[in-house]
Formats: sequence, C-alpha cells, structure tokens
Amino acid sequence: GDSGGIASRLLGWYDAHHRDLPWRIAPRDVLRGIRPDPYRVWLSEVMLQQTTVEAVKSYFRAFVGKWPDVEALAAASTEDVMKAWAGLGYYSRARNLKACADLVARQGGRFPATESGLKELPGIGAYTAAAIAAIAFDHPAAVVDGNVERVVSRLFSIATPLSEAKAEIRAFVERMVPQARPGDFAQAMMDLGATICTPRRPRCMLCPLREDCSAILAGDPERFPVRLPK
Ligand code: ADE
Repeated sequence: GDSGGIASRLLGWYDAHHRDLPWRIAPRDVLRGIRPDPYRVWLSEVMLQQTTVEAVKSYFRAFVGKWPDVEALAAASTEDVMKAWAGLGYYSRARNLKACADLVARQGGRFPATESGLKELPGIGAYTAAAIAAIAFDHPAAVVDGNVERVVSRLFSIATPLSEAKAEIRAFVERMVPQARPGDFAQAMMDLGATICTPRRPRCMLCPLREDCSAILAGDPERFPVRLPK
C-alpha cells in the first residue's frame, strides 16, 4: 500500500480532468483555501442522492437562482419548493430539504461542520454527512458511494462479494483519504468512477491509478466488484 501516492496521483488527475459541475469550485480555488458554500454542497448532495448528475444540473441552477441561500429557502413556501422539485422524484427528499432549511435558518443559517452534527438534520444520512463534511468543511471524511465502491473493489481486487464488503471498502477509503484536499479527493473518486472506472469497459489506459490497480494485474477489472449470484 502506497495510499498517499494514490491520493496524490488521483488529485493530479482531478486538477486536469475534473468535471465542471455547477455546485463545484475550481481545484485552483480550493488550493488557495477558498471553500465551497455549504448550502450549495448540501443542496447538490441531496439532489444527487438518487438522481444522475446530468438530471440534477438544471434543477440545481434553478434552485440557487430562486433561493440563493438557506434563509431564502426557509422563507419559501413548501408548495413552491415541491413545484420546483417536480420531476426529480423521491419527493420525501424535497420535504426533508425544506425541513432542514427551516432548522438551519432558525439556528443562525450555519450548517453543522461535523458528520455527527450533519447526520442529525432531516434528509442527511451517513453518505451525505460525509460528503458535506469533506467538500464544504475540509474534513478527511470517508465518502463512499457506488462509484467509490467500484473503484476501491478494483484497486484492491476485493474478492468479498460487494454486499458483504462494505466495511472492508470503507477501511480502504479511510486509509486513502489525504489530509490535504479531502473534498477534492472525494469528488475525484466519484469522477474516476463515473468517467474512467466505469461498470462496463473501464478506460484503464487513461486511468491515473492503472499502476496501483490490482484488478488490472489480475487481468480483468470488470470482474470487480464481485457480486453474489441472484
Ligand atoms: N455524486 C454525488 N455527489 C457528487 C459530486 N459532488 N460530484 C459528482 N457526483 C456526485
């Protein structure tokens, strides 16, 4: 394990190849110590919970156009929020979004900066709390979504079926997370999984981690993650 080397190779790749998404700030700004707005990070992560990046983009822009901060969203009517959410699906997310905005606005407009504080808010589970803590607050939280599970399963050729490998995968991610730029690291893992380390026909020749990847050595990255027969 050259975990530190893995993180720096991944961040170098992210600097050059990151996706420009409306809720992100540029890696060069992160390096200057500029942080993304927690409101925008929270809103995007809730929208992305069960919806694709492509579908979320226009909704995210519409929401921040109408309601630029958490106080504005708290001041909106539930009906207007539900209308703006229409089409995104999983409508309990919109109700929780509004309830969360109301709570945060009443507590002075600041989101909690820790995973445990964030998890107490409506609509924020373990994944979303870790993502907000890393991306908005620079905490070295382990952010593990489906993309990250696939990347890690391949990097370490994890033979345990995915459904039983969650703790093992999390432990690998915890060892990989760098102290510097943990938010960019989390988003770089997501981008790698979405654009290079895809479920089918991964583009290993373009991968910044190809020399670290145990699944390439084993000959067939698509074998990972291992799934139990249905
Ligand atoms: N999926 C969930 N959160 C994301 C993010 N911040 N960037 C890209 N895809 C994501």
